[in-house]
Amino acid sequence: MAGNWKMYKTPAETNAYFEAFVPLTRDSGHADIVICPPFPALATAVAAAEGTAIQVGAQNLYWGREGAFTGEVSGPMLKAAGCSHVIVGHSERRQFFGEGDAEVARKAVAALDAGLTPIVCVGEKLDDREAGRTESVLMTQIAGALGAMSAAQFAALVVAYEPVWAIGTGRTATPQMAAEAHAIIRRECQRLFGDEAARLRILYGGSVKPENTPALMAQQDIDGVLVGGASLDPQSFAAIVNY
Ligand code: PGA
Repeated sequence: MAGNWKMYKTPAETNAYFEAFVPLTRDSGHADIVICPPFPALATAVAAAEGTAIQVGAQNLYWGREGAFTGEVSGPMLKAAGCSHVIVGHSERRQFFGEGDAEVARKAVAALDAGLTPIVCVGEKLDDREAGRTESVLMTQIAGALGAMSAAQFAALVVAYEPVWAIGTGRTATPQMAAEAHAIIRRECQRLFGDEAARLRILYGGSVKPENTPALMAQQDIDGVLVGGASLDPQSFAAIVNY
């Protein structure tokens, strides 16, 4: 159960969040919980999560280890800061910052090399869905992002299906629509990596709320959720985790 805070919350707000969230999820041993704050709040989140089962992830990384790349942050730096995960290829990165499948692939491998678990995001846009291109878009994104990986690399990552038209819009994919997309993703991974694909965790993301989480989580190929807006409130994210 992963929370993507996007560009929200200062370190002080992060501390206040964990104060409320930690007691609400102390007994939530059924799930792995990851919270992904913005870079300046990562150290605060790591400190606040100490002694809990909550893990901390970043929202982006660059593939170089270090160097003259002003404004960028590397996988080893995130690892050293206490992160366990990093979101890669979120649709907002693709849409606003020009990332394509080739960059996503490099970033995912860099994350793995640094010992981080990449949460690799894929998802079709509204016009793709309306034109009947959902399946081909997902297959292209999966093959483009993961196709050059080894089986061991594939085994260490998480995929998130986030239909772009459902992100921050209040429009959730129905559980059936999400399940169909997850099945396409698993099938494509099966084609690339064989039986290991059965163990892949595929998260659904896009207007996940406490109310729609049970029906989504009931779908066979939905193994978790990646939550934006509803993860900003500790009560609401705890209700999702404890669905
Ligand atoms: P949302 O965002 O839950 O606010 O729709 C999901 C995401 O972009 O990860």
